[in-house]
Amino acid sequence: VTFAPFTQRMPVPATLTPSQTTADTDIYTLPIRTAEAELIPGLRTPVLTYGGQFVGPTIRAEKGRRTQVTFTNELDRPTNVHLHGGHVSPENDGHPMDLIAPGQTRAYAYPNAQRASTLWYHDHTHGLEADHIYRGLHGFYLIEDKAERRFNLPEGAYDVPIMLRNAQFDENGALVFGHPDNRTTTLVNGKAQPYLPVAARRYRFRLLNSALKHVYQLNIGGVPLTKIASDGGLLPAPVEQTEVVVSSGERVEIVVDFAPHVGHGPLYLYDGENPILRFDVSPADGRDRSGVPDVLVPLPALAAATVERTVVMSMDMSLRPPIGLINGRPFDPNRVDIQVMQGATEIWNIVNADVSPFPFDHPFHTHLLQFQVLGRDTGPSLPEDAGLKDTVYVPPLGSVRIQMTFDTPYLGRYMYHCHFPEHSALGMMAQMEIIP
Ligand code: C2O
Ligand code: CU
Repeated sequence: VTFAPFTQRMPVPATLTPSQTTADTDIYTLPIRTAEAELIPGLRTPVLTYGGQFVGPTIRAEKGRRTQVTFTNELDRPTNVHLHGGHVSPENDGHPMDLIAPGQTRAYAYPNAQRASTLWYHDHTHGLEADHIYRGLHGFYLIEDKAERRFNLPEGAYDVPIMLRNAQFDENGALVFGHPDNRTTTLVNGKAQPYLPVAARRYRFRLLNSALKHVYQLNIGGVPLTKIASDGGLLPAPVEQTEVVVSSGERVEIVVDFAPHVGHGPLYLYDGENPILRFDVSPADGRDRSGVPDVLVPLPALAAATVERTVVMSMDMSLRPPIGLINGRPFDPNRVDIQVMQGATEIWNIVNADVSPFPFDHPFHTHLLQFQVLGRDTGPSLPEDAGLKDTVYVPPLGSVRIQMTFDTPYLGRYMYHCHFPEHSALGMMAQMEIIP
């Protein structure tokens, strides 16, 4: 499809209002249903949604207060909901086999007993997760806390979640799934090449890559991007970069100061060299009292690891359809692949074994907890490995060493998998069990 670029305003997904609040819990209800959305100017695209919105409503949680979300499945197919990055019990984790049948309702409880961070919620129905996420079952979930507010980072209207993902359209505007070619369109909060009016001041952008299969190389044409947070919340200190790289499932947060750019024409957010969002800078609407302190939130100290494991991701392309493998085996819901002792500190060496002629990337993701990246086979970590992570990019034939401490009250089964959902749908997914 062709369309006039930069004619739609970038929406900011609305914050969901609780249907009820109690002393310690915010209670929400959210239907999962079909809808039409204007992703391309002038075209109506049939989509799947949380609450009728292609980028689902944003759920804002306060650390230490519980959230309960009751989802009603109004679709004609099973679905479920996973809180990506959430430290939650197995019953509330959206296990790929634990589904909400059509017409049924399911309440998920999230304790929010973890660092302030940018999480997201999405479908995790085994085999259909890629299709469901692609069609729109994705939204932001933000955990906030007092400590973060004290930093005086840009907030309110100046704290903007931005979901990036790709889609391919037919000539009527319908989504085409499963045959991505290089004519895919980047959607920014659900709009193709939108514009965003900004004031000449600092903004915090919470960038999420929810694409099925893409690595964004984001830049504003050399403008300084002050990176402040990663998957698991604020970094120990801000880092000045001119480009941030985000693979599927990852989040990165940046502060951008538009003050020097008023009166010089628009700026663009680029993926590589491709402009995906236009910023229209207008004079500041008041004094900018926000800032970025030199010191943010220290990382937890690394405990001594007592267990080391190797997790190998690969794709068997000799079969039709291909099969995704972890340590040589496809996902089997009846098999536990790793048993982890509650409280243990482990080092996992994550290996991507795929070679030419099918050199796939595989972003590795674990449920339950965030980890720290210790290093890569190619040497030190990449800038995008900094901070607490739950998703890490592993290039073809590359490997990444991660360390995590299973400091959790929860026992039971959790997933780890490739976060290209088409790969997890083909089996590149396995289960760990937390045992006492
Ligand atoms: Cu965002 Cu198991 O996934
Ligand atoms: Cu993969």
